[in-house]
Amino acid sequence: MSNIAVRVFVSIGLFAVFGGIFLQAVVAGDDVPKPIGHYPERNVAITEKWKEVKDGYSNPKKYTPPVVKEAGKDCVKCHKVLTPVAVKDWEDSKHYEKGVGCESCHNDHSNLIMPTPDTCGTCHASETMQHRAGKHSIAWSVKVASGGKGGGAGRFLAQYEEMKEGSCGGCHSVEDKCDSCHSRHKFNAKEALEPSACGTCHMGPDHAQLDYFESSKHGVIYGIEGKGVEEGGRAPTCVTCHMKAGNHDVSQGLTLGGASQGKFVGNKDTGAGYSKSPNGILMNEITEGTYKRERAKMVTICMDCHSKRFAEHKLSVADGIKVASDAVAGEAIKEIKGLYNDGLLNPMPEDRPENPFVGKKLMLTGHQLYEQTSGVEALFFEMYKFDLVHAWKGAYHFSPDWTHWYGNAPMKMKLSRIKNEANQLRRLDKLEKALDIEAEKVDFDE
Ligand code: HEC
Ligand code: HEC
Ligand code: HEC
Ligand code: HEC
Ligand code: HEC
Ligand code: HEC
Ligand code: HEC
Ligand code: HEC
Repeated sequence: MSNIAVRVFVSIGLFAVFGGIFLQAVVAGDDVPKPIGHYPERNVAITEKWKEVKDGYSNPKKYTPPVVKEAGKDCVKCHKVLTPVAVKDWEDSKHYEKGVGCESCHNDHSNLIMPTPDTCGTCHASETMQHRAGKHSIAWSVKVASGGKGGGAGRFLAQYEEMKEGSCGGCHSVEDKCDSCHSRHKFNAKEALEPSACGTCHMGPDHAQLDYFESSKHGVIYGIEGKGVEEGGRAPTCVTCHMKAGNHDVSQGLTLGGASQGKFVGNKDTGAGYSKSPNGILMNEITEGTYKRERAKMVTICMDCHSKRFAEHKLSVADGIKVASDAVAGEAIKEIKGLYNDGLLNPMPEDRPENPFVGKKLMLTGHQLYEQTSGVEALFFEMYKFDLVHAWKGAYHFSPDWTHWYGNAPMKMKLSRIKNEANQLRRLDKLEKALDIEAEKVDFDE
């Protein structure tokens, strides 16, 4: 049956059962998205429909419920017809078994909510506290969406609303949603043990952990046996190394290899904040003490299966790759800063739409934008955000191919291209000056 047929069928069924009292809530709005014909503006909604719920499903603290008249307390009676599979999933869950009903997570229609970790936390306090202690819990409000001074990611604030929700929000919502790894409404703990449960988010050009893992010896054995050590197999999975004994704080045991650009050993612990590393890359800073303490935690995990010496050695291989790769990116930063100081970026930051975070200044790494920028900065974006991280994130997950062919090799080739581009920009500048020609700048109209 087609979707429309199902809808009609369900609507007729409902009408028959409930006399159509809430039909108004089932009928979708008539907004039809039309072509817009210009570069999308920042911070505006493209479709009318989006404005109804805004990002309330990704950001349940901001959720606004639909108007459903005369909905009583008997959730299952209506929802067995309206959302039959959701009800069935719930009936298959431990919650059903233990009498945790729809209203425990959603209240009722007079005060309907989408559950946040606080909702789950009323019954699962320790998982919620652990989740709150790790970086999953600052993914949205601190790092990405909190506009204004000091907060909010540049690349987020440069998007229109649907893009913010459909991309950044699809992953960074992990902060306020406990259904990121446990899918609703089964909430099956075993399902979350699968590496693919992390995979919606931990994949792609800037953090391909699922792919690193799958191509590592660990992942290959997991693939052959179809189960990790938690379920009687030989291989560790994401959860073995990052959620030891079900600990929901995924930030345990990380040293140089944390989220995004990772960390460097300096004089202080910046926590979730950033310092500029000696190579000019914005990242978290940690002390030697933190490095040693967190490394020891990870090595203890490896030691269930490997010797201490083996584990420490293999992790130091990855450490070496991290610090050496950061230094390669540092060379590119020096080159681009030189072009900036000489006014040779095309266009210069002051001649293009502003970076929401730093305005019309040069921003490399951190809140750097990938759009409406100069060619040489775009090349650098690919280098630091994609190639550089594959080199060392691949290494921390023991994937030789990602480390080398998707990491080291393209990173170093991009350094050559960046130096080449810089050389051409300088030669062109000389020529234009010698011939007294006015330089033509790339124009992005705002
Ligand atoms: C009289 C029928 C009726 C009853 C009883 C009822 N609901 Fe609903 N519910 C609806 C309708 C209609 C919608 C809108 C469905 C849609 O948009 O497809 C809805 C939507 C929802 C949604 C989704 C809202 C959204 O924004 O997507 C949730 C959650 C929900 N109901 C929970 C409950 C809970 C919990 C109870 C019991 C306390 C309950 N419902 C009882 C009719 C009912
Ligand atoms: C253990 C908590 C829990 C219980 C119990 C629960 N839900 Fe949900 N429900 C969730 C979560 C989590 C979401 C997703 C919230 C979000 O998107 O922010 C959700 C979303 C929904 C949605 C809207 C999103 C969608 O996929 O359409 C509906 C409808 C819904 N629930 C119906 C029900 C019904 C009906 C019951 C009872 C049979 C129920 N829920 C029981 C946790 C629960
Ligand atoms: C009203 C209390 C209550 C609320 C609210 C609640 N749960 Fe539960 N949950 C339970 C109980 C009771 C069990 C069964 C525990 C057991 O059998 O040991 C359970 C079990 C679970 C399990 C383990 C299931 C399994 O396969 O072993 C998960 C995962 C879970 N809940 C997640 C959630 C999430 C996520 C939320 C919020 C969206 C939530 N719960 C909200 C009471 C609750
Ligand atoms: C819905 C998306 C999503 C899912 C699913 C998800 N994560 Fe994450 N994870 C993120 C985001 C976003 C961050 C970065 C948060 C930040 O630094 O602001 C992150 C960060 C991390 C970090 C780095 C923490 C740090 O302190 O640097 C680890 C480790 C991690 N996740 C492990 C896991 C594991 C293991 C799973 C599966 C069991 C998983 N994640 C599932 C989105 C997700
Ligand atoms: C990063 C993925 C991830 C997120 C996010 C997540 N969980 Fe879990 N959860 C797991 C995994 C994996 C297990 C199974 C651990 C094990 O068996 O070793 C689990 C197990 C559980 C259990 C069962 C514990 C037991 O002893 O049986 C509960 C309850 C639970 N989670 C609640 C929550 C709550 C509440 C939240 C939100 C605060 C949440 N989870 C968010 C991955 C996650
Ligand atoms: C054998 C252990 C192991 C397994 C399996 C594993 N990781 Fe990791 N992970 C590590 C180590 C080691 C680091 C870096 C530790 C450090 O900073 O010293 C790391 C770092 C991370 C980070 C921070 C960024 C980075 O890549 O360095 C994320 C996110 C992450 N892992 C997610 C995952 C996900 C998702 C999976 C499963 C697809 C997974 N890991 C499987 C050991 C593991
Ligand atoms: C496919 C899922 C996904 C999408 C889409 C996504 N992110 Fe992320 N983001 C992550 C994960 C996972 C991490 C951390 C893991 C790692 O670096 O290995 C992360 C890291 C970050 C960090 C660094 C946090 C820190 O602790 O340093 C910022 C900032 C960020 N993302 C912003 C954004 C913005 C803004 C968007 C949209 C324009 C976006 N992300 C889109 C999953 C995603
Ligand atoms: C649950 C057991 C288990 C855990 C935990 C584990 N590994 Fe492994 N590891 C294996 C198995 C099994 C192999 C495959 C050995 C073979 O080649 O037969 C392997 C292979 C490897 C390999 C590639 C093979 C080689 O000899 O070079 C490296 C590197 C590695 N592990 C490092 C680590 C590190 C570092 C940790 C901790 C962060 C770790 N492993 C955690 C079981 C584990």
